[in-house]
Amino acid sequence: MATEMGTNNTILVTGGAGFIGSNFVLTWMNSVGTPLVNLDLLTYAGNPANLAGLEGDSRYTLVRGDICDARLVKSLLKERRPRAVVHFAAESHVDRSIASPEAFIRTNVHGTFVLLDQARAYWESLAPEDREVFRFLHISTDEVYGTLGPRDPAFSETTPYAPNSPYAASKAGSDHLTRAYFHTFGLPVLTTNCSNNYGPYQFPEKLIPLMILNALEGKPLPVYGDGKNVRDWLFVEDHCSAIRTVLEKGNPGETYNIGGNSEKANIDVVTAICNLVDEMRPGLASGRPRTSLINYVADRPGHDRRYAIDASKISRELGWKPSQVFEDGLRRTVEWYLNHSGWIENVRTLAYRGWIEKNYAERMTVGGAQ
Ligand code: NAD
Ligand code: DAU
Repeated sequence: MATEMGTNNTILVTGGAGFIGSNFVLTWMNSVGTPLVNLDLLTYAGNPANLAGLEGDSRYTLVRGDICDARLVKSLLKERRPRAVVHFAAESHVDRSIASPEAFIRTNVHGTFVLLDQARAYWESLAPEDREVFRFLHISTDEVYGTLGPRDPAFSETTPYAPNSPYAASKAGSDHLTRAYFHTFGLPVLTTNCSNNYGPYQFPEKLIPLMILNALEGKPLPVYGDGKNVRDWLFVEDHCSAIRTVLEKGNPGETYNIGGNSEKANIDVVTAICNLVDEMRPGLASGRPRTSLINYVADRPGHDRRYAIDASKISRELGWKPSQVFEDGLRRTVEWYLNHSGWIENVRTLAYRGWIEKNYAERMTVGGAQ
């Protein structure tokens, strides 16, 4: 039972209507099952339909609001008395951070500051035994480490920060603030730095869902640069299980790298998607395989060449390992998109179409179908 100064078993999640957040909320409800409050501004990337299955579930509350709103955050903490904050909310798309960086600084840097500052005041008001168990888990990215050469060792928790895009720099800023709130104030924070996620509910501005939908519809597949940039892919449910593990067993003040041990060049990912869509939906009008839609286009400015995560610390210290191999996870993901045309139509709003037009119109003139 909560006392006046106590916590209860609730967790406060931010950004729980986005891609990873939705998967986290759904898997939390099916595994841990304790009450969860989801604070989400429902930007273009937030979709409450992802969580429609929780309608009427008294354990779940959606609060539409901004993490930059200190009064709202303060009152939520005071009223709901969570034992933990799990912070996903962010602007997350690198290309948008190049086109319009300001929102990234606002939400990722200032928003994280507001949350940390309000969490600190709340934590300081708790009874000692509740202060002991309280956690602030900050979800971050491997992009804060910059880029790797082909033979460099994978990013570890001690790799120096070298962010290259406005998105990565804003996440690095939020990581530093999180660290400072531990070192200066003792707030029991945990930070996770994860590699590229893929799976259901990912907004179709990101590589994998965009390519699945374009392949399905016979549209060009815009591969940036030479297609040989490498990402280390992790199935989203594995990321969610890693977050639950860190929340339960992680040591305050520590950071944990999370990755799938699954480095792939973009062109290989796109080719694999083409083959899966050919298998599941045969019959492109031209009669040619979907790989014929591949179109090399102008590169992303400052495009990081390679990411790879050394996840040995979380494995050794907390016993977490990914369970999904890339080939199976990608098949599940393609099947999910092929079976959720209603979800897709819903997210492809006018604003979405405007973004796609803006991001690809100029690029498309560079390449040419193979
Ligand atoms: P997303 O863009 O799909 O979702 C972001 C969510 O945050 C949305 O629901 C949006 O409405 C919400 N949001 C944005 N601004 C807000 C604000 N000011 N106040 C409240 N809510 C706000 O992002 P994602 O891909 O699910 O990423 C979630 C987190 O994980 C981010 O912090 C991101 O940096 C990190 N991350 C993502 C990946 C990846 O591959 N997608 C990998 C590593 C880390
Ligand atoms: O590494 C973790 C990061 O992964 C997260 O922090 C970010 O939030 C997430 O968006 C993701 O960033 P990337 O830039 O790696 O993901 P994206 O899906 O945008 O691009 C993956 C790769 O594919 C990258 O090398 C750029 C390339 N790409 C992307 C798009 C959208 C293309 O070649 N064509 C495209 O149309």
